[in-house]
Amino acid sequence: MYTRDFNVDETGATHPLEQGGHQPLEDALQGQALAAAALAVGSNGRLAYIESYGCQMNFSDSEIVASILHEAGYGITTEAAGADLILLNTCSIRDKAEQRIRTRLREFQGLKQARPEATIGILGCMAERLKAQLLEEEKLVDVVCGPDAYRSLPGLIAEAESGQKAVNVLLSREETYAEISPLRLDSNGVTAFISIMRGCDNMCSFCVVPFTRGRERSRNAFTIEAEARDLYQRGYREVTLLGQNVDSYKWLNPETGQTERFDALLARVALVHPDLRVRFSTSHPKDMTDQVLQTMARYPNICKYIHLPVQSGHSDVLERMNRTYDREWYLDRIAAIRRWVPDCGISTDIIAGFCGETESEHQDTLRLMQEVQYEMAYMFYYSERPGTLAARKYPDDVPLEVKKRRLNEIIALQSEHSLASNRRDLGKVFRVLVEKESRRSAAHLCGRNDQNKMVVFGREDWKPGQYVNVLIEDCTSATLIGRVVSPGQMESVAVAAVQTA
Ligand code: 5AD
Ligand code: SF4
Repeated sequence: MYTRDFNVDETGATHPLEQGGHQPLEDALQGQALAAAALAVGSNGRLAYIESYGCQMNFSDSEIVASILHEAGYGITTEAAGADLILLNTCSIRDKAEQRIRTRLREFQGLKQARPEATIGILGCMAERLKAQLLEEEKLVDVVCGPDAYRSLPGLIAEAESGQKAVNVLLSREETYAEISPLRLDSNGVTAFISIMRGCDNMCSFCVVPFTRGRERSRNAFTIEAEARDLYQRGYREVTLLGQNVDSYKWLNPETGQTERFDALLARVALVHPDLRVRFSTSHPKDMTDQVLQTMARYPNICKYIHLPVQSGHSDVLERMNRTYDREWYLDRIAAIRRWVPDCGISTDIIAGFCGETESEHQDTLRLMQEVQYEMAYMFYYSERPGTLAARKYPDDVPLEVKKRRLNEIIALQSEHSLASNRRDLGKVFRVLVEKESRRSAAHLCGRNDQNKMVVFGREDWKPGQYVNVLIEDCTSATLIGRVVSPGQMESVAVAAVQTA
């Protein structure tokens, strides 16, 4: 078992998610098929169906894939049964993720028997990891296309249709799909992801991502800004800048000759419009700078929320994980967040039972949690991934029962902290961006506050995309519940002042 949350919340997250780069998506969305009425028709009369697993980055990639396919003439459908092309965008982060996708592939085999002319392909992290196995031994798929090879997808499909097995899992040092405008397929029309970089150079010893997604590279900031502006003009009010490690964003601006880092990119996107909220994910403790925190403090429309994965509260475990920071460094970064952005929501990722983890090392993780008091956490037990540094160097020697028990202790403690954090919000008023109807009641809407907490409130006449001020009157450990007290107002003046400074 690996889990993220423990209460049913507005996101439908009762339990585990796959996560790759990184904040995981709600469980309810895992496997979600992308479609939009306007995209249902293509010029070649064929229909493509895309199912996505894993992290936000994968969902964002599926939007790029849809754009490439639409350009090549495909319509996009939500029905696998009628599709000419069925694609699974896969995740390898933990073994369970892969098992789930294999089961799904077998289900598609049944479909293929009914419609032999349909093409089945896998994209994403498993493509890179299991190409030969899936294609040759198990004969489950016709097309295998890795995360850096999506431009070649139409060609691969043509190859597969002519009876060949088609594979491209080449990783690239340059590909960022910079100028491709993603198709926002399953969107609420209010919030969107923007991918700002790809790959990861960190080599955390437990992680398969550097092998499946390749070297880190940053996308052209002009295209990121243009994408944010376009989204704003189309009615979107929140963008999340995505990367495996956003703090190492680095791009040479040809106009100024200067290297732009993440703090500059954040400011650039914040200046698109004061009513466009900006979020980002994921931060790495070793790279998170005070400049980024100062930028967050300066712009009211940069959300006061940081996802800062700790993984373990003990320095020796962190060393074995090759995280390149220790407990003290991490706590110093937390102190810096509290100093620069006092009202910041903080969440984390924790792995229980990593190689060689002793009971007292585990206790130190619980103590660190007590010290930080996270608003929320994604919690997993260690799952050895073939080919990683840890798999080669350290025995996976914590028994499964012990891993599960430690994970449960971590989850129980986080549950207390999440509830306590939400209780502290009772009586406060938050500015909330209205996203959609509440899952549980058509009479209620929901949206997030700055700190990324889901807030539920009475529907009245509010529409997705509007800002409202909500007085919090009740809560669970996963959701704040309240009523709208007035429409929200953005502190546009403050942003304008920065703009001219
Ligand atoms: N086992 C368990 N959890 C893992 N993660 C990454 N690799 C593994 C693994 N092999 C978790 C980390 C990371 C998040 C994306 O997934 O906590 O931050
Ligand atoms: Fe995240 Fe570390 Fe894996 Fe990179 S190597 S994706 S930073 S967990």
